[in-house]
Amino acid sequence: RVKAVILAGGSGTRLWPLSRLQLPKQFLRLQGDKTLLESTIGRLAPLIQPSDVLVVTGAEHARGEAYNSLRAYQTLLEPVGRNTAPAIALAAAWLQEQAEGGDPVMVVLPADHIIKQSEAFQEALQSAVEAASDGRLITFGIKPTRPDTGFGYIKVAETKVNDASPILLVDEFTEKPDLAKAEEFVARDHYYWNSGMFVWRTSAILAEIKAQLPDVYAIVKSIRADWAESESLQEAIDRGFARMPNISIDYGVLEKSQKVALIPCSLGWSDVGSWDAVHEIAEHDEKGNAVQGRAIVTDCQNSLVHSNKRLVAAIGVQDLCIVETADAVLVTKRGESQRVREIVDELKQTN
Ligand code: GDD
Ligand code: MG
Repeated sequence: RVKAVILAGGSGTRLWPLSRLQLPKQFLRLQGDKTLLESTIGRLAPLIQPSDVLVVTGAEHARGEAYNSLRAYQTLLEPVGRNTAPAIALAAAWLQEQAEGGDPVMVVLPADHIIKQSEAFQEALQSAVEAASDGRLITFGIKPTRPDTGFGYIKVAETKVNDASPILLVDEFTEKPDLAKAEEFVARDHYYWNSGMFVWRTSAILAEIKAQLPDVYAIVKSIRADWAESESLQEAIDRGFARMPNISIDYGVLEKSQKVALIPCSLGWSDVGSWDAVHEIAEHDEKGNAVQGRAIVTDCQNSLVHSNKRLVAAIGVQDLCIVETADAVLVTKRGESQRVREIVDELKQTN
């Protein structure tokens, strides 16, 4: 049986003011009536049923509005966020325990991405699951369209894992390069963005974590031992997890591993990492405006206007992102919306 692990612990600060610590991006309805988390899980059918889904997220999301979209699934709750490597290590160990000697293939998905072509995704997923059976770490590669420094870049070899498979061997994985490097990568052939979705056997990822991140592996092992003794996994996590180092799976494992392979995909994928990205994926009028919620635009061009509570009107402006919520309004030039992070950092300091 194939299992899915959904990473839903991120704080999604770049979509402030809509995304808040208590209700980050994965719990927002940015497209239609489902949250991004619900769409992520829905897209797995028919290959993986909701009962084979494990959501790993922060304990603070187990109450309030976020909990409404979590309650239907099995969850592991982290008392503190330690980035993706500890979350994945813990999930892999849990799946291994549940499998009672089996070695399930595990699909790891970020909870907060948009994929427009579900069928293409399911096909790619099927190929990835097949290729993962011999211990490879499979990534999903997207053709880069801009020198974005927020992504991992993967250089593929021209060799396939086998003749029948679309999956390519990987030469090099570079997480979040500087701008000069990113520009170089985008200009060359053989480079892909890492989409942050992975498929591997639980034994394969645990072996790599043991080799590359021995401290993470040791803490997972001690949580497992504590769990066996105390019989409550969640209590064992609450006691042991804070000792984890803060490290992503990309920096911690994928940059160093020799076992990474990649399936090139074209999925209509977006990580919705900024208001610019929301503008890009949204429906536009003939002047390139994306209008969401109660808003009126007159003589505007290439702008995003997102209203949440109140009516918003814009006249004669170009290339703006305007986002309204009950207690905060953001206005930024398109192309600068990544800098919302600076505002969030400042707010954290003053609050
Ligand atoms: N459970 C849990 N705990 N989930 C987490 C944590 C954590 O501490 N931190 C992040 N996540 C979740 C986020 O909610 C998101 O769904 C996913 O893990 C990836 O984390 P991000 O923080 O969004 O990573 P990133 O965007 O900087 O980089 C990753 O994704 C890019 C594509 O969007 C990397 O994999 C890059 O290589 C990749 O290009
Ligand atoms: Mg991300």
